[in-house]
Amino acid sequence: MASAELAVDNKSDQTPLARERQHAQDEREGRLRFVVVKNDGLDRSLISLIDMKSIYSKQLPKMGKEYIVRLVLDRSHTSLACVFEGEIVGGVTYRRHATQAFAEIAFCAVSATHQVRGYGTRLMNQLKEHCKREGIHFLLTYADNHAIGYFRKQGFQKQVTMKRERWLGYIKDYDGGTLMECAIDTQVDYLNIRFVAEEQRRAIAERMEAGGAQQQEAEYAGYDPAEGGVPAGLQGTSWRESALHCSMQGKPVPLADCLQAVLAEVATHADAWPFQTAVSTSLAPDYYEVIKDPVDLASVRARLTPRAHLHTTTRSSSSSPTCCACAKTAACTTATTTSTTTARSGWRRSSGRRSER
Ligand code: ACO
Repeated sequence: MASAELAVDNKSDQTPLARERQHAQDEREGRLRFVVVKNDGLDRSLISLIDMKSIYSKQLPKMGKEYIVRLVLDRSHTSLACVFEGEIVGGVTYRRHATQAFAEIAFCAVSATHQVRGYGTRLMNQLKEHCKREGIHFLLTYADNHAIGYFRKQGFQKQVTMKRERWLGYIKDYDGGTLMECAIDTQVDYLNIRFVAEEQRRAIAERMEAGGAQQQEAEYAGYDPAEGGVPAGLQGTSWRESALHCSMQGKPVPLADCLQAVLAEVATHADAWPFQTAVSTSLAPDYYEVIKDPVDLASVRARLTPRAHLHTTTRSSSSSPTCCACAKTAACTTATTTSTTTARSGWRRSSGRRSER
C-alpha cells in the first residue's frame, strides 16, 4: 500500500485531537499544504481550480457542473486548496464582500477517500486564519442539509447575527440549503484552538482533583459586588473583579485593564463593524489624504496587546516622559481619571499613513 494511503488510514482511527496534531505535524513537515488559488490565468492555477471543481462536482452532485465551473473560475471568487502529498484532496471556494467585511462560501468539499479524517476541519480553520488577514469578520454559507452537522462543528450557527442590510442582496439565495453564519474572532488562534481547549480542560480537571473533596464540602456565602474583594472559594484562582466595574466605583485599576475593558465594549457594539479594520485605499483611494489622523479598532487592539502606546508630537517625551513607560510595565495603578487623561494622550497617532490590508 502506498505511504499516502497508510497515512490516510491512520487518521480515520484517530480522535479529533490526535488528527489535528497529525495535521499540524504534516504541515510542519510539508506533506500537507493549504494554497490560495485564484483564476489569474496561469496554467498552474487553472489546473488546481479544475481539480477542485472535479471534487465539488463529485461531492455535490445536485449542483450543476456548469454552475460549479463558472463560480470556481470566476475572478471574484477565491479558493483555498487542501493539498496532501502533492494531491488536491479538498477545497473551499468563497467570495469576499470587502465593503461588508464578510465572505460567502460557495462550495466546500473533501474527496470521498479523505473524508472524516479532519481535513475539513483543518481547511475551515485555515480559511478563518486567512479571513483574519483579509479583514473578513463573518462567513456566511447556504449549507447543504447533509452538511449542517459539519458546519455546526466548525462554529457556524443558523442564526445570522449580522444586520440584514449588511448582507441581504450581496449573496445568492439557494433552495434546499440552510443559511449559516460564523463570526471570526481576531483574538483566536484557529490553528491551535483544539490544543488550547485541551490544555484548559486538563488544567481545570487537575485543579478540581487537587481542590477536590475539601471544596465540595465547603459552603460559601453569596458575593456582593458592591463590597468588592475576592469571592469566597475563588482565592488563589485567576478570578479578578471586572475592570469596568472597578473603575465605575472609582477604585484604582491598572491602566491596561481599563483600556481593554473599554475596547471590548466598543468593539462588540452592533455598529462597530465598519471600524474593525483600517480603511483600504482600494475602496477609498483618497481616504488618507482627507483623514489625516485615522484610527481603527484593529490598530487600537494591536497597540494595547503589547501595551505599547504612542506619543503624540504635541505631548512629546519632554512633557510627559513617564506615560509610555508606565503603560508598558502595566504597573501603573492609577485612579480612573488619571488613566483617562493618559490614555487620551497615548491614543493619538503621531503621523504617517497606515498600510493597506
Ligand atoms: N454531517 C455531520 N457531521 C459531519 C459531516 C456531515 N456531513 N461531515 C463531517 N462531519 C463531522 C465529523 O464527524 C467530524 O466530527 P468530530 O470532529 O467530532 O470527529 C467533524 O464533522 C469534522 O470532520 P472532518 O473530518 O474535519 O470533515 P471532512 O474532512 O469529512 O469534511 C465535508 C467535511 C466537507 C462536509 C465533507 O464530508 C464533504 O465533502 N462532504 C460532501 C460535500 C458536502 O456536503 N459539502 C458541504 C456542502 S455545503 C457547501 O458547500 C456550502
